[in-house]
Amino acid sequence: MFWTSFLTTALLLAPSVAGVAVPVDHEPLIIGKTDSNRKLHGRFLHMTDFHPDPFYIDGASPDQKCHRGDGDAGHFGSPTTSCDSPWSLIDETLGWVRNNLRDKIDFVVWTGDSARHDNDDAIPRSPTQIYDSNRKTVSKVLDVFRTTDNETSLNPLSSLFVPVVPTLGNNDIFPHNIMEPGPSQVTRQYADIWRSFLPETQYHVFEKGGYYWQQVLPGRNGEWGPSSDGGLAVFSLNTLYFFNSNAAVDGCDKRSEPGYEQMEWLKNQLQIMRDRNMKAILIGHVPPAWTSTKQSWDETCWKKYVLWSKQYRDVIVGHIYGHMNLDHFMILDSHKGLKPRDGKKRKHKKKLGGKSSMFDYIFQIFTGNEEPDVCSVDEFDPEADPIMSVTSASDYLQSLREEFAELPSPNANQAAEVGGYDKLIGGKWGERYMVTLVGPSVVPNYFPTLRVFEYNITGLADETGSFKFTSSDDVTNETKGKKSKKPKKPKIELPHGPSPTEPPGPAYSMQPLSLTGYTQYFLNLTKYNDPVENFNNTNVEFEVEYDTRTDKIYKLKDLTVRSYLKLAHKIVDATAPTKPKKGHKKSEDDVDDEDHYDRQRKKKKKKHGKKKKRDRVWHKFVERAFVGTISPDQVKNFRASAVEGCEVSEL
Ligand SMILES: *[C@@H]1O[C@H](CO)[C@@H](O)[C@H](O)[C@H]1NC(C)=O
Ligand SMILES: *[C@@H]1O[C@H](CO)[C@@H](O)[C@H](O)[C@H]1NC(C)=O
Ligand SMILES: *[C@@H]1O[C@H](CO)[C@@H](O)[C@H](O)[C@H]1NC(C)=O
Ligand SMILES: *[C@@H]1O[C@H](CO)[C@@H](O)[C@H](O)[C@H]1NC(C)=O
Ligand SMILES: *[C@@H]1O[C@H](CO)[C@@H](O)[C@H](O)[C@H]1NC(C)=O
Repeated sequence: MFWTSFLTTALLLAPSVAGVAVPVDHEPLIIGKTDSNRKLHGRFLHMTDFHPDPFYIDGASPDQKCHRGDGDAGHFGSPTTSCDSPWSLIDETLGWVRNNLRDKIDFVVWTGDSARHDNDDAIPRSPTQIYDSNRKTVSKVLDVFRTTDNETSLNPLSSLFVPVVPTLGNNDIFPHNIMEPGPSQVTRQYADIWRSFLPETQYHVFEKGGYYWQQVLPGRNGEWGPSSDGGLAVFSLNTLYFFNSNAAVDGCDKRSEPGYEQMEWLKNQLQIMRDRNMKAILIGHVPPAWTSTKQSWDETCWKKYVLWSKQYRDVIVGHIYGHMNLDHFMILDSHKGLKPRDGKKRKHKKKLGGKSSMFDYIFQIFTGNEEPDVCSVDEFDPEADPIMSVTSASDYLQSLREEFAELPSPNANQAAEVGGYDKLIGGKWGERYMVTLVGPSVVPNYFPTLRVFEYNITGLADETGSFKFTSSDDVTNETKGKKSKKPKKPKIELPHGPSPTEPPGPAYSMQPLSLTGYTQYFLNLTKYNDPVENFNNTNVEFEVEYDTRTDKIYKLKDLTVRSYLKLAHKIVDATAPTKPKKGHKKSEDDVDDEDHYDRQRKKKKKKHGKKKKRDRVWHKFVERAFVGTISPDQVKNFRASAVEGCEVSEL
């Protein structure tokens, strides 16, 4: 029907190139070419965690999830409460996207949770409600991104103006967190709800596992599908099969587990990307958090993910996640993928099986609450009340900082002994590490947010932004040459790394498709909920919270791993760095730090005391984690009063 007619049209439009398609695995011969009048913007949108709530009532009490009672539940949502989003917030957010971003971006990544939380015993969730909520959100997203009569789709095989890639969240299923291996009602429902987003070639994969990949930029030849030479894909991972809280599955090591299958799929598909000269962005809902206070994924899945990411570092452009609501990033260490963590044995889960154990599970939820020990570190739960959980959220951020402190230091003497900093971080480009970027949510745990990434389009577009395509002939010859060199499928578990002659990947050295920065937007709900101002009939405006390209505190010159390693060091301790020794050969990093040092010294002389400067970057990191709703001072005070009598680590 819909798809068939599109395919037919595409094939009729491109008869001259139809013969060059190279069949790969199960993909049929689908050919299409981007309209050369389309512009490439070098920007894409990340949106996450909408959590629309049909039971939200204006003026209800936030203590009752904004479902009843009298209170100050705002028209567009209740910031810093555990209430979910009113539909008005979803509408305003998507309206702003339509008016301000739609024509300036190339694709959208959307990392899940388009249903309300299971947080009100008086109104239990049901599968129907969850699917309806997702369906409604999808139809609003489609209203924004559907092509109008005079527009052409970036992807000629789709009806959308730009590709949109959704992923499953832990609240998009019933009960939340628990997902059985597919095919299941859940995967079939989402195959239907997302039919405008899923490429037809990935339906069978999706029905089985809830994961898929979608091409989002055409190849250098302008083409899509198997005849694309180069281009970009987004991998939408189903993190529920990796998630520690999913009691229906058990990790990624046993062949019978869906996590194992997904990891095999990921490896094979990343190899296809490599063979086709394509690059990939990996997205998911629950991020691979791995610190002393929080391990979100099963260890066996986490290790494979880290190893695969390292081996395909020539292919992977970046890792983008949601779920946590906190704006932050993580640095994954590939050395930790190889050995057991701190001698801690992997916890084996008691797996659920069949209906009766599902009842056990539900029974546990209602009865299993023990008195919490106020002095112990609570594991951060992004689903908990955002204000009550400020303590555990700050403990989590503190544990991230501790992880950052373990990274090799560019200044330490130890670096000199083992052959320099570069050697410790896996060479000049820091290829020992991977960076995961976690975007804050639309649901106003703090303030609603959206993030717009920029990436490098040098050579992909001309000065006017129009695509620069290479001719089909050139590519055909080149592609044919490449295909014949395609290596046999690896038998060993560890995938092949990049060929030693390959240049480092886009996450490591600046090149086309490398992420160059992002703009973090937020919606000031304090302003828009003001009853005196009465913004009901006005379009709300998201504002820039910070832009990594101009930000004076993070000073990220791009989003490469090396830049993030530098930021991580500054977060560990932002006191003035020691002045480099004379005669020491200057690296680029040193020049920057010297600059930083001089400026800091001057400023200090002028007005600030030493104390004020200390931990400047760390404080900004914490402030941004909470989208500016909670100052580091407040966090500190809150902590002190919440855990009176316990030892408080300094924030
Ligand atoms: C395309 O159509 C939309 C309405 O569907 C209109 O607002 C817009 O101005 C048109 N653009 C061009 C270039 O004709
Ligand atoms: C591509 O191959 C055709 C014949 O196979 C040849 O005529 C043409 O010159 C080749 N183009 C390039 C760029 O090598
Ligand atoms: C994009 O990458 C090229 C190298 O391929 C580099 O010369 C250029 O400065 C980069 N552009 C941006 C905006 O970083
Ligand atoms: C949000 O708006 C309120 C009221 O207009 C203002 O006082 C506050 O400073 C704003 N907050 C931010 C972070 O801009
Ligand atoms: C704004 O919305 C609130 C809540 O829905 C309503 O009580 C109020 O009358 C509205 N004001 C205007 C001017 O429409």
